[in-house]
Amino acid sequence: MGNGIAHTFAQFDYKVNLIDISQPALDKALATITKNLDRQVAKGSITEADKQKTLTNITTFTSIADGVKDRDLVVEAATENVDIKLKLFKDIDANAPANCILASNTSSISITSIAAVTKRPDKVIGMHFMNPVPVMKLVEVIRGYSTSNEVTNLIMETSKKLGKVPTEVNDLPGFVANKILMPMINEAIITLFEGTAGVEEIDTVMKLGMAHPMGPLQLADFIGLDVCLSILNVLHEGFGNPKYAPCPLLVNMVTAGKLGVKSGEGFYSWTHGTKDLIVADNFKK
Ligand SMILES: NC(=O)c1ccc[n+]([C@@H]2O[C@H](COP(=O)([O-])OP(=O)(O)OC[C@H]3O[C@@H](n4cnc5c(N)ncnc54)[C@H](O)[C@@H]3O)[C@@H](O)[C@H]2O)c1
Repeated sequence: MGNGIAHTFAQFDYKVNLIDISQPALDKALATITKNLDRQVAKGSITEADKQKTLTNITTFTSIADGVKDRDLVVEAATENVDIKLKLFKDIDANAPANCILASNTSSISITSIAAVTKRPDKVIGMHFMNPVPVMKLVEVIRGYSTSNEVTNLIMETSKKLGKVPTEVNDLPGFVANKILMPMINEAIITLFEGTAGVEEIDTVMKLGMAHPMGPLQLADFIGLDVCLSILNVLHEGFGNPKYAPCPLLVNMVTAGKLGVKSGEGFYSWTHGTKDLIVADNFKK
């Protein structure tokens, strides 16, 4: 997600400092951005000059202090883990200019709890982009308990400048997108777990029957099964309602390191790329 967010800001001529924990992670991000820009050039949606300008707008850093020190806005998109995010926001808060807005792309972690570890809770907000970021129009803008009107309006306007459609929502577990999406994905996994139907059948029913562009199991593989599990845990704990309890099959798959596209296997096998749908060996009939 971080590379998609950097790509999008840079494409709209913002100067972007892209930060990750290691140089190999940054090299991988730049390679992904270049590949995605090439695809946009091939489709004719941007020119070769736009591609070069976008790449020139991105500088990479492995140090948070150096990466955030002169910024107006930081958009955090690190791993969906509350301890990682709270530590990161303390570090970012200590190093970013006092007037800098701190946004998180979190799918489910409370913006209010992230804001509470900073000295600027009025300037902390959720900026929840969808995957793939350069393509998807929605930005779910999440107001924490203390987020100011001024900061909310600025982030709504900034999202529009990126060609996106921002939608303002309040800070409750899962916000809107994942409070509705994740129970559907979990229900698809439960349906598989109970043996009602196989991977292909479940996805086909939802694609052809409900006109979804991809089935819920394929979508889970694209999102990352670890991310899906984290979000379900947040919903389960946040609302205290057993209807959000993650399916044991999802828990097992994450424990086994089967995380979907990013690990090469989830409900489908992805070692050959993401074009063809090949059901993973564990779910072959
Ligand atoms: N995957 C999706 O479809 C999706 C959609 C919307 C929002 N999100 C959210 O975006 C965020 C990132 O998701 P992802 O799927 O890209 O995760 P990911 O695990 O694929 O990538 C996380 C990146 O963060 C880096 N990172 C981890 N700790 C760091 C630190 N301390 N400092 C700097 N970089 C650090 C990792 O090296 C990695 O490159 C999560 O909060 C997730 O909930 C994901």
